[in-house]
Amino acid sequence: MSHLVAPSLLSANFLNLEKDIEMLNQSEADWFHLDVMDGMFVPNISFGFAIIEKIRKTTRKFLDVHLMIVDPERYLERFKNAGADLISIHMEACRNPAEALKTIRSLHAKAGIVINPATPVKVLESVISEVDMVLLMSVNPGFGGQSFMPGTFDKIAGLKQMIRLQQRDILVEVDGGIDLQNAAALVESGVDILVAGNTIFASADPMKTIHQLKNIC
Ligand code: DX5
Ligand code: ZN
Repeated sequence: MSHLVAPSLLSANFLNLEKDIEMLNQSEADWFHLDVMDGMFVPNISFGFAIIEKIRKTTRKFLDVHLMIVDPERYLERFKNAGADLISIHMEACRNPAEALKTIRSLHAKAGIVINPATPVKVLESVISEVDMVLLMSVNPGFGGQSFMPGTFDKIAGLKQMIRLQQRDILVEVDGGIDLQNAAALVESGVDILVAGNTIFASADPMKTIHQLKNIC
């Protein structure tokens, strides 16, 4: 599979979201990456169900919902009903991640687990059998436009090794500080999905930037 590009709408223009969604619909973007923040797990608050429902009505592309919220099990069904195709929860934010991942799958959504830069890949051993995707944060979550943390590359290597032992397809997504300089090395190291916010929405020609990320190697 060639890699996928998932623009993060956190950096989109919320006063004219429809225009940015139309641009993404016309573009080579594969997924929409939607960052939900509760002001508790991360020091920022973004958006929730109402916005996701509206986005669902405006695109047929796959909705990748990244939950940066404490105790996400409280809201899994509502995110699925709002239109999520994949729901990712943070290992650090959840009391029983394996159980929550099972619930996501029982709702007929894809299940993703996320770890912060400071969390070692080893903790994923207890949940890897329950996931469709692992998201490695390459910045501390909460804000767009931060710099990529190079330590991510070692974590990708460790994760790929863990996935090989599972003998089934588990996607690897990286999120935070991805740009036209580091994207090729990420894909070459085995990343399946590149999330990008600032690189796309702050560029002079977002559609062209998506094309470049999609054809980076
Ligand atoms: C950060 C979010 C990211 C963010 C990425 O907490 O999870 O998805 O929007 O933005 P950039 O690509 O600007 O680092
Ligand atoms: Zn994200």
